[in-house]
Amino acid sequence: MRRLFPVTDMTAHETEAGADREWSFDELADAYAYPELPGGEGAWLRANMVSSLDGAGQHDGRSQPLSSETDMRIFGTLRALADVVVVGAETVRLEGYRPARAREAFAARRAAAGQGPAPVIAVVSASLELDFSLPLFTEPLVPTLILTGAAAPAERVRAAREAGAEVLVAGDGAGVEPVRAKAVLAERGLRRQLTEGGPRLLGQFVAAEVLDELCLTVSPTMTAGDAQRIAGGPPVAVPTRFAVASLLERDGFLFTRYRRI
Ligand SMILES: NC(=O)c1ccc[n+]([C@@H]2O[C@H](COP(=O)([O-])OP(=O)(O)OC[C@H]3O[C@@H](n4cnc5c(N)ncnc54)[C@H](OP(=O)(O)O)[C@@H]3O)[C@@H](O)[C@H]2O)c1
Repeated sequence: MRRLFPVTDMTAHETEAGADREWSFDELADAYAYPELPGGEGAWLRANMVSSLDGAGQHDGRSQPLSSETDMRIFGTLRALADVVVVGAETVRLEGYRPARAREAFAARRAAAGQGPAPVIAVVSASLELDFSLPLFTEPLVPTLILTGAAAPAERVRAAREAGAEVLVAGDGAGVEPVRAKAVLAERGLRRQLTEGGPRLLGQFVAAEVLDELCLTVSPTMTAGDAQRIAGGPPVAVPTRFAVASLLERDGFLFTRYRRI
């Protein structure tokens, strides 16, 4: 792994010392630490997404073909730093989402941060058309959350609860309101928030201006076709500006981190 930005005195040293090697989980966790929240209040919502050079956020319905071993290590690290992973229902359905694992490499760090052994997964869904017999609902270390609107179908809410999921209302109608989703999770002490998409969910977080940070892996691939980009839905009135926070490289993959300004 090479750090391309920010450039520090260490950068030259790292390169000389043969730092173009896989970073340890500790090094990755330090590089991706969440910022301190003022007064421990509010929440920080970060997204982790991968895109091909020509802007595809998936290939054959999955993001895995765009990914790499290092990308998966960063994916795991970002999960391990988070209190909660927020994900859209379609990504759960298409990617066969499993509950987050407790990972030995991060156990001490999580304990010191007052976190449980693994992040909570929070699925955003209006329909609750989810397979509640999946391990995501039956075998998590911490009960999976479902974020939905007040008008969610009652029998699906019942099925979710019977399966062991906890259903949280974060919207007055059928859908979840992004601002409320972030606040509802923060009220439960889930302040270090990570979203793994998909594009329809991420687009709403962008439009509602609740996305604080984007960790975008630029995959050195092109796919052509008409795959979704990493954020979809109605466009914002004025493009939201982000500033680069860090840039790492390994095997031609760029691991970028941008913060909203
Ligand atoms: N490139 C990447 O890094 C990346 C990351 C993740 C996913 N993906 C890819 O993206 C694709 C899936 O993404 P997607 O954009 O189609 O779907 P998505 O955002 O994962 O999920 C959309 C679903 O989430 C629920 N939802 C979204 N907004 C909601 C709201 N405000 N209130 C209530 N429910 C809401 C709805 O579920 P219900 O239908 O249940 O109501 C909706 O159908 C997959 O192919 C996946 O591989 C790529």
